[in-house]
Amino acid sequence: MDINGKLALVTGSSKRIGREIAIDLARRGARVAVHHRSAESEADAIETLWHVKRAGGDGGVFRAELRDLKEIDEMFEDIKAAFGGLHILVNNASVFSPAKADETTEEHWDEQLDSNAKAPFFVAQRAARLMREGKIINLADVAGHVVWPGYFAYSVSKAALLAVNRGLAKAYAPRIQVNAIAPGPVLFPEHYSDEQRMSAVERTLLKRAGSAEDIVNAVIFLIENDYITGELIHVDGGRHVM
Ligand SMILES: NC(=O)c1ccc[n+]([C@@H]2O[C@H](COP(=O)([O-])OP(=O)(O)OC[C@H]3O[C@@H](n4cnc5c(N)ncnc54)[C@H](OP(=O)(O)O)[C@@H]3O)[C@@H](O)[C@H]2O)c1
Repeated sequence: MDINGKLALVTGSSKRIGREIAIDLARRGARVAVHHRSAESEADAIETLWHVKRAGGDGGVFRAELRDLKEIDEMFEDIKAAFGGLHILVNNASVFSPAKADETTEEHWDEQLDSNAKAPFFVAQRAARLMREGKIINLADVAGHVVWPGYFAYSVSKAALLAVNRGLAKAYAPRIQVNAIAPGPVLFPEHYSDEQRMSAVERTLLKRAGSAEDIVNAVIFLIENDYITGELIHVDGGRHVM
């Protein structure tokens, strides 16, 4: 798919990796729906839109708590009114908080699973209704294969997302190609200590952190290639074979 002139939604693009994806899509001529969750992230989302426009693109800011189906529907009504359709969805929004199996509460489980698996599924379902042909990219994690003991529910949520990825590829073929990317250590969570950062890097084959650009490049590759669907690309410095 040629990105120029296409309509794209990037969830959780007020900052970090989502912002970089939104800006790069704009640079390539897409009109971008910048999504954020709350009033607290509105200023960041507006800043992303500023970068989108500066990159030569256009777009708008859309707010939704994606754990709430009603808010997802309201967001898509707004996107439909503003854009008229959609060609690209990047399911980037995610929560990442620690809890071992024994510490996992129902509230924590629901937060991780609802944000990281249920929300991307329903966002994709609604997005597909706006697409004649399109691309859906899901941001996953190697934790979905190996289940990190300290991030039990998070890992399960990303395992579910990988199943959602394969299932959606079948459900929407041949009209829409659906693929996933599993980033390695790229942008560390703010709460990570130096020790945690070093340990994450040590667990890659390449012994270094990646960059947001590495992830953006994989997103662009999957959008531009029309003969890949149901795939997962690890962009993780070899973390998944360690
Ligand atoms: N960073 C890494 O090195 C790394 C490694 C492995 C995988 N990944 C994956 O790559 C993607 C991007 O990573 P990141 O670190 O840039 O993400 P992030 O900063 O952890 O999260 C991106 C955004 O998701 C939004 N979000 C979370 N839950 C939401 C909900 N229920 N409803 C609406 N928005 C919600 C938040 O928006 P608001 O700020 O508006 O609340 C947040 O800014 C994620 O899917 C992540 O799992 C990243």
